[in-house]
Amino acid sequence: MKILVTGGTGYIGSHTVVELQQKGYEVIIVDNFSNSEKSVLSSIEKITGISQQFEEFDLVDETHTSDFFKRHNDISGVIHFAAYKAVGESVEKPLMYYRNNINSLLNILEGMKANNIRNLVFSSSCTVYGQPDKLPVAEDSPIKPALSPYGNTKQIAEEIISDTLKTSDIRAIMLRYFNPIGAHETAHIGELPIGVPNNLIPFITQTAIGKREVLSVFGDDYNTPDGTAIRDYIHIVDLAKAHVVALDRMIENKSLSDGEIFNLGTGNGYSVLEVIKSFEKVSGEKLNYHIVKRRPGDIEKVWADTKFANKELGWKAKKSLDEMTLSAWKWEKELSGHNSNK
Ligand code: WQD
Repeated sequence: MKILVTGGTGYIGSHTVVELQQKGYEVIIVDNFSNSEKSVLSSIEKITGISQQFEEFDLVDETHTSDFFKRHNDISGVIHFAAYKAVGESVEKPLMYYRNNINSLLNILEGMKANNIRNLVFSSSCTVYGQPDKLPVAEDSPIKPALSPYGNTKQIAEEIISDTLKTSDIRAIMLRYFNPIGAHETAHIGELPIGVPNNLIPFITQTAIGKREVLSVFGDDYNTPDGTAIRDYIHIVDLAKAHVVALDRMIENKSLSDGEIFNLGTGNGYSVLEVIKSFEKVSGEKLNYHIVKRRPGDIEKVWADTKFANKELGWKAKKSLDEMTLSAWKWEKELSGHNSNK
């Protein structure tokens, strides 16, 4: 069966392509490489041994996207990752985020409808919950007003998909990611932040490898055991595997409804300092960090209620925090081409 993976050379996309191909799916990638590198195609091939089918174009281009679907009307499902995802950047450039993240989704949905493609796995985010009133946060928890245009595009996208399901044969599974981190065990693929990393883990590994001077810990005055903010970190490969399970579920007609939503987390929350401690333990490196003031827009603590995904998908995140931080460190050393003395 042929699956379209949009954004397939991105961090989550590339790891999902590997799992899909190792499960026997045929994959075609569409990417415009606006936030990823073309070399990821050959990196995926190093792992799967399969030369990647891909097309390079912008999914915001309605004509090009419609033409793509006409030429590939043998697609059985779509996993839609392609979107901008930097919270801070979205605050500075809201129109760029709304145009890219919303218009590309609209074109995907139109293409699916026009070519009778039924199955959509959509990349959503725990950001839609904002700061939950109750933890762990479950899928039926109230959606809070978005704290950023990025988070708002995810909320709007979920609504667009839900409305589309009512008037078409499309069925969807929307996956709300918590904090994906780490890298594939081969260290051939991993997180490739462009420029200064926004996210914690790449900043930690780049500091340890010597690319960054010091890690700034954004606040230690939160109402948490050690004062630093808590997140539900999940290994990228556990997350990728969940996408294959979700696709299988729809193809095998096991969905309970045309639109299902699942949290993808571990159910465990770790603070920034706990993550640093894990990294220092697995790497043997002493991390240079200092405490600074909170980052605007950050929430205090969030971790997932994973019961629905565990029960209905029969999926559970397996890897520990130490396995996650170690895989991130192996990847950083691979990226540095071993030309560091680490
Ligand atoms: C994690 C924790 C920071 C960097 C965001 C998006 C989310 C998803 C993942 C797209 C927080 C702290 C971070 C640093 C720090 N993105 N931190 N120093 O903000 O939880 O989630 O990225 O889907 O939608 O909201 O992830 O890695 O940026 O931060 O102290 O240099 O690490 O304050 O507590 P976040 P993050």
